[in-house]
Amino acid sequence: MDAVKVGLLGLGTVGGGTVTVLRRNAEEITRRAGRGISITHAAARDLSKPRNCDTTGIELTTDAEEVVSNPETEIVVELIGGDTLASEMVMKAIDNGKHVVTANKALIAKHGNEIFAAAQKKGVMVAFEAAVAGGIPIIKAIREGLAGNQIQWLAGIINGTGNFILTEMRDKGRDFDEVLKEAQQLGYAEADPTFDVEGIDAAHKLTILASIAFGIPLQFDAVFTEGISKITREDVAYAEELGYRIKHLGLTRRSNGGVELRVHPTLIPERRLLANVDGVMNAVLVMGDAVGPTMYYGAGAGAEPTASAVVADLVDVVRVLTSDPENRVPHLAFQANRLSDMPILDMTQVQTAYYLRMQAEDKPGVLAEVTRILGDSGISIEAIIQKEPLPGSDKANIIMLTHRVEERSMNEAIAAIESLPVIHGEVTRIRMETLNAD
Ligand code: NAP
Ligand code: HSE
Repeated sequence: MDAVKVGLLGLGTVGGGTVTVLRRNAEEITRRAGRGISITHAAARDLSKPRNCDTTGIELTTDAEEVVSNPETEIVVELIGGDTLASEMVMKAIDNGKHVVTANKALIAKHGNEIFAAAQKKGVMVAFEAAVAGGIPIIKAIREGLAGNQIQWLAGIINGTGNFILTEMRDKGRDFDEVLKEAQQLGYAEADPTFDVEGIDAAHKLTILASIAFGIPLQFDAVFTEGISKITREDVAYAEELGYRIKHLGLTRRSNGGVELRVHPTLIPERRLLANVDGVMNAVLVMGDAVGPTMYYGAGAGAEPTASAVVADLVDVVRVLTSDPENRVPHLAFQANRLSDMPILDMTQVQTAYYLRMQAEDKPGVLAEVTRILGDSGISIEAIIQKEPLPGSDKANIIMLTHRVEERSMNEAIAAIESLPVIHGEVTRIRMETLNAD
């Protein structure tokens, strides 16, 4: 049988990696898919740019539309990024009856509901394993491997750039900006790296994971999102002193009132496996009612790790090209007409424990005032340390760990603490999770 012809949009980090992996492993891939997979057409912005892959035999163009409209190709792989042109091209490809593979989490998180509806109508597949956690087959694991479970919660390090920055800051004391530059050079970061450091990229991925875990529509706008840009080296060191690591987590949990959907820096006990996932590696811990906790670990970004997931999707699409569209694995794991309308909880209703750091005047009675405010708000303290003023400052650092409390009460307490004349600047708040198997 002839090889399946594929049109590729984008020849950057992931596009180049995909061409390389498809060429290098062609024989094995053909044995797995039952047919060869051949990229015949590809689009990029600048055809004179040197590429990290061999483009021999691929017809190149700067016009993405040419690729999605080419009658020879059966599958379009979208690796341009962003959610404007990518969205337009994916919708056109679907309209032209082509199957789609994409690594674009922004696209799926923001436009997935319409894209899947259009694909369902046309009877084509849209596969997006590479959109979450790079090379880790986490979507397949939850959608298929854990299909017998009620997923209770999942928590993951789902941005490689952010984890790389936090690890380098902790292990080598390096500066945030310098490590971010290196992540960009290594091809880990998004075209706009604020997506990585402000948690937007992780929020895109969490949106997708929550839908697949709980069978709810994609709701990117409902994700509470906080990045790592305000984490200081001192916070990293104080957390370690207290037996914790700071990790940037995406966390979603099903509770009676609805679904928690949040991305933020989090203190995790240092003995947890997740606390020891370093560098560009990602990991997702999933709690199923039948299986208990399972954890998935691997490279979260980079050319070939991401290509690994793109190519796996291509193989899946080729395997089911001819199967009945009504009986394919549903895009969001649950049948499209059986999605649940479970509400997403407002962040003020979510309960967590907290790490608090505040700069205080170094005089008697300050601690008593702070603990009184916390006590009045029903917040109990688990640990407290006071640090000498840092060089060049006359303010002491007070660091506290609290027990679990609703975010609403913590917001009120922090506002009251910040209004004390003996407290200077903002109170740093980092949420804590024990990630126990309960
Ligand atoms: P990238 O290196 O910036 O590559 C983007 C490619 O798209 C480039 O080849 C670029 O052409 C091409 N392109 C941009 N605008 C175009 C246009 N108007 N017409 C035709 N081609 C155009 O990006 P990437 O890192 O490979 O990421 C691609 C996608 O994968 C994104 O959605 C990203 O979020 C996702 N992703 C990336 C990683 C990773 O580790 N990098 C991991 C998982 C998922 P030129 O090369 O000529 O500029
Ligand atoms: N910029 C993303 C990250 C790429 O660093 O995780 C992988 O999705």
